[in-house]
Amino acid sequence: MSPTTLPTVSSLAEASFVPPADSVRWRRYAGRDVIPLWLADLDFPAPPAVIAALEARIANGLFGYGEPTDALIEALVTYCAREYGWAIEPDWLVWLPGLVPALYAACRAIEGEVVTATPVYPPFLKAPCRERRVLRTLPLVRDEAGWGWDFAAADALMRGARLFLLCHPHNPVGRAWREDELWQLAALAEKHDLIVCSDEIHCDLTLTGRHRPFATLAPEIARRTITLMAPSKTFNLAGLSCAYAIIPEAALRQAFVAALAGRVPEPNVLGLVACEAALREGGAWRAQLIETLRHHALRVEEAVNALPGLFTTRVEASFLAWIDCRDLGLEHPAAFFEAAGVGLADGAAFGPGQAFAQFVRLNFGTRRELLDEALARLAAAISRL
Ligand SMILES: Cc1ncc(COP(=O)(O)O)c(C=O)c1O
Repeated sequence: MSPTTLPTVSSLAEASFVPPADSVRWRRYAGRDVIPLWLADLDFPAPPAVIAALEARIANGLFGYGEPTDALIEALVTYCAREYGWAIEPDWLVWLPGLVPALYAACRAIEGEVVTATPVYPPFLKAPCRERRVLRTLPLVRDEAGWGWDFAAADALMRGARLFLLCHPHNPVGRAWREDELWQLAALAEKHDLIVCSDEIHCDLTLTGRHRPFATLAPEIARRTITLMAPSKTFNLAGLSCAYAIIPEAALRQAFVAALAGRVPEPNVLGLVACEAALREGGAWRAQLIETLRHHALRVEEAVNALPGLFTTRVEASFLAWIDCRDLGLEHPAAFFEAAGVGLADGAAFGPGQAFAQFVRLNFGTRRELLDEALARLAAAISRL
């Protein structure tokens, strides 16, 4: 499809859509007047080229066991070279049905204590614990410039650990880590001899510039890194179960693959087809989406920061805003906003104990009208307090 026939920025944000009957996000509030902005998937249909490729594959009618084709692998190698200047080799790839199982596999594969920075996507906390690893949490810090690292605290915490789970860009604080920040983390990984599992699932929706995969900093960093990527967030394909790990170091890759065996299934054949079409032909659609998300990010930032008791920072990647509600003085802000008709992710799940119970996360990857209605409901709820 040529860029001229693609939806425009406003039409992507304004197009009506029908939530599928199986949508996890929409089903939570079925029959209730609650706008569901909690889970991280989009209300925009996948790129037309992806839908066409799926239709052609479905027309074939045979859905036996599948595996990535040479054409898909070639598309991914080309994509990494074009998007990140990263020359990956086909041997480095491990295909997966999703990245949550990859976080668990990394924890199983690497014996020893695990470090991660909070607040963070909840499976970063659950995977180490369920794999019986000791988890050390490093609080991210927030100043006027936004969320960032306390590198001295990181240095102290990483001593004696074995695995660092990095979220890059970071869900939920929305940071696309800068190169100087990545270099400091890399230096710490070297100093403490850590394996780094860098979850880069949101990287293709960077709103502020080009994504730099952690593994591309230097060959010695690549050797200690498991990079996790997927087309699922970018092209709204999470339900098709296709993702991949890129692991240049053979011994590390073998340990990771051994940790998957018997527990994690192959990717879905439709997911493989959708992935190839998205990587090859999704570029112009993705550019439209990024433009839309930039607008929505600013809309949310302005609206939220105009409300008394709420504060959020600039979102640099993806479609999730992390909102600090501490000044509202409510015990459970997520429940309060749900009662007011907006379903947000409860911050409590993003850190240890109750550290982030006064925060909520809002998915703004939806139709503009719905987003505006949700923002109006937040304002109305606060004005009634
Ligand atoms: C950082 C991060 N990793 C992984 C996932 C989910 O991965 P998957 O659906 O591939 O298991 C998400 C979804 O929100 C995420 O934000």
